[in-house]
Amino acid sequence: MSPAGGGDADALRRMLTARLADVAGADAGLEARMIVERVTGLDAAGLLTRGDQPVSPDARAAAEAMLARRLAREPLSQIFGTRGFWTIDLDVTADVLTPRPDTETLIEAVLDFVDTDGRGRGHPWRILDLGTGSGCLPAALLTELPEARAVAVDRSEAAARVARGNLARIAPDRAAVAVGDWATALSAAPGHVFDLIVSNPPYIPTNEIRALDPEVARHEPHLALDGGDDGLEAYRVLAPVIARLLHPEGFACVEVGRGQARDVERLFGDLGLTTSVRNDLGRIGRCVTARHAAAVAP
Ligand SMILES: C[S@@+](CC[C@H](N)C(=O)[O-])C[C@H]1O[C@@H](n2cnc3c(N)ncnc32)[C@H](O)[C@@H]1O
Repeated sequence: MSPAGGGDADALRRMLTARLADVAGADAGLEARMIVERVTGLDAAGLLTRGDQPVSPDARAAAEAMLARRLAREPLSQIFGTRGFWTIDLDVTADVLTPRPDTETLIEAVLDFVDTDGRGRGHPWRILDLGTGSGCLPAALLTELPEARAVAVDRSEAAARVARGNLARIAPDRAAVAVGDWATALSAAPGHVFDLIVSNPPYIPTNEIRALDPEVARHEPHLALDGGDDGLEAYRVLAPVIARLLHPEGFACVEVGRGQARDVERLFGDLGLTTSVRNDLGRIGRCVTARHAAAVAP
């Protein structure tokens, strides 16, 4: 018997569940199943009905290699190189934040706006994403808005490469990714405005980063996490940028960390924008939406 455990898929899954308990906690069983599915090619139903199928030596070696990386606290998304978001699968590397389910709250907020606005999903929406990482936000929006076009900005050249790959695959010829600082990247195009602006900026207070799980603190890019002393530094820069680039009839939506929504609303409110807060599934205020006051006046 190999050090990885018994000879069939069920035995491999049980061994992985036990070994992953310390690093994955309550998700150990789920992660073990995902690894077995990946190395054997079985899907969830196949694993249930054909779990007694022998596992080849190559598949077992691949599972052991993944286990070793996971025990070193590498996130499963980086080990697999992919993560599901909204209805799509995105390539993920250590150069980008792994897209989180909470961030889908922004997609819901934008689609609610689009669906009540009157212009509808077929309108040629102009989308801007500030700090795009994997490109998850424009990629998801472009799949829902078939005539839309997107511009995405990121200061990280490596992240921009990942976003370009994802966007080229998911929404060919409908997105451009610019490398640069979000405060200045679009200043070369005066008069440029966007109908839909989204952003999930870094918002973890600097001194809290070291206390995060090692999967995040050690393996995700610092530039994607660090929100400065109080976590709000990016919003102070982004609020006036968004106010300037948002079309008078447009809609903006930024992700916020727990407890940050009121402060971020105030930053937009001070610039004359009208705001609201949308909760995620855990009932945490997860995104602040902003519109020009004239667009929402009765
Ligand atoms: C929290 S991540 C979000 C990534 C992606 N939008 C998502 O939701 O998964 C923030 C992103 O902003 C980028 N970023 C940080 N500071 C920036 C700046 N000053 N200008 C442009 N991008 C920046 C980081 O490189 C990172 O990719």
